[in-house]
Amino acid sequence: MKKSLTWHKIADHINELGFAENNIALAWLNEKKICIGRYKDQVFAFAYKCPHAGGLMTDGFIDALGNVVCPLHRYKFDMRTGRNVSGEGYYLKNWPVEIREEGVFVGVEETGGFWNIFR
Ligand code: FES
Repeated sequence: MKKSLTWHKIADHINELGFAENNIALAWLNEKKICIGRYKDQVFAFAYKCPHAGGLMTDGFIDALGNVVCPLHRYKFDMRTGRNVSGEGYYLKNWPVEIREEGVFVGVEETGGFWNIFR
């Protein structure tokens, strides 16, 4: 089935996201919490909870290579792809982000009229 993206506005401006010192901000995507991570000039959207045992990714940190590290057991994920780069075989759900003049948008896959952000 062909998948298309629906773009959801999560903030009027990147500065409104309220990044913590760890460069991770909490945002809302259709009433669900997600994380926004900032690394160099790029911004990424990924799941609020770690796929391993539910660690809160907002309390994690971003390492020197741009991976987000879970605060509980320190598994690392590539923010761009969700790949578990420390090798435990998990996958961190993630979404594309676009910064536009009208605000910050997160793209969610739509399949057959329904979209599911936590597939
Ligand atoms: S809960 Fe995230 S690494 Fe275990």
